[in-house]
Amino acid sequence: MFTHKTTSNEQAKRLAFLFAKEIIKSKFSKKSALIIALSGNLGSGKTTFVQGFLRGAGIKKKITSPTFVLIKTYKLTNLKTYKLIHHIDCYRIKNAKELFNLGLEKILSNSKNIVLIEWPGIIKKYLPKSAIWIKFKYGRKESERIIKISE
Ligand SMILES: Nc1ncnc2c1ncn2[C@@H]1O[C@H](COP(=O)(O)OP(=O)(O)O)[C@@H](O)[C@H]1O
Ligand SMILES: [Mg+2]
Repeated sequence: MFTHKTTSNEQAKRLAFLFAKEIIKSKFSKKSALIIALSGNLGSGKTTFVQGFLRGAGIKKKITSPTFVLIKTYKLTNLKTYKLIHHIDCYRIKNAKELFNLGLEKILSNSKNIVLIEWPGIIKKYLPKSAIWIKFKYGRKESERIIKISE
């Protein structure tokens, strides 16, 4: 378990940027996607982390929250290890089936995918043990956030 404290959203993005660079270097699993579950209250920094992560992975495109489309997909063109990053937001869904209808099973099982999941609670039981869990909490000051990374 790694605990980090950040005191600005720039710092949080930087942390996510470096985390992405580090984790993408090595092939994680041959059996499933590299799955990163991001949990924490509204405004705790999950989407901010994803933005930094995607930049660290080399995504240049504009990044917007998948709150309404549920899944946003980005192409990784210059990596051997991973080909696609899927950013999933389960905030609005009532039933995991909504995501299975969008191809969740294939997304999670393809080892060429990276999958970042906000509000993962509703699909928790479908995630493999190898999933990395990152917990976001508010700190004492307004711009302080505590990020705990399981591994
Ligand atoms: N240290 C920090 N880390 C992340 N976000 C921060 C931090 N300090 C302030 N913020 C602000 O908090 C908000 C976090 O929002 P967001 O990343 O969308 O959260 P979530 O996706 O968890 O709901 C943003 O407006 C961001 O600018
Ligand atoms: Mg969010």
